[in-house]
Amino acid sequence: MIKVAASVLAADILHLGNEVERLERIHCDWVHVDVMDGSFVPNLSYGPHVVQALREKTDLILDVHLMVNEPQRHVEAFAKAGADYLTIHCEATKDPGQVLKQIKNLGVKTGITLKPATRIETLKEYLPLADMVLVMTVEPGFGGQSFMEKMLEKVKILRQWGFTGHVEVDGGINLLTGEQAVKSGADVLVMGTALFKAGDPAMLIKQVHRL
Ligand code: DX5
Ligand code: ZN
Repeated sequence: MIKVAASVLAADILHLGNEVERLERIHCDWVHVDVMDGSFVPNLSYGPHVVQALREKTDLILDVHLMVNEPQRHVEAFAKAGADYLTIHCEATKDPGQVLKQIKNLGVKTGITLKPATRIETLKEYLPLADMVLVMTVEPGFGGQSFMEKMLEKVKILRQWGFTGHVEVDGGINLLTGEQAVKSGADVLVMGTALFKAGDPAMLIKQVHRL
């Protein structure tokens, strides 16, 4: 079944606990946490303490997207905080393979991702170490941007290479763009704006589950 990873960037931050309870009630699958360091991307967001607070609140899968330079300096803290998936950018460190091994050794599932301008071939050598590939369908850093359809080519290529792990898409995903992504081979849809601003988010999740 196709999964929805709710990006809490679009949630009501002052009532994050209530928002997560609501996500559970409407059968959302994962919680997507966008960590930004103001250096790898221009924006700043949150650190391990927010992941820990979410962990204390919910058993939903915590899918942590690290938009930070030198992720090797931070993965242990996020693992201790209770992340289920830790996804690193291949552009953010000299040795992504080493960081993926570090994450695995911490007992956490591994993800690797790339910016829109980065070629998918860059990731090929790391696929055996990755439980998931996240294909960015917007420039990382902010929610609410428009979906870049061209990025779906990367999703198709991953499946052509025989990658059997999760392929997640992130940025500008709604029911329509999500359906296109699923047709290309994605199985996890990150939704920020589309989910939190939906008139009927429970119905949206139901519709995604039926894709
Ligand atoms: C962008 C983040 C996304 C973002 C998605 O840097 O990685 O997870 O929150 O938000 P929407 O769904 O609004 O494009
Ligand atoms: Zn993200």
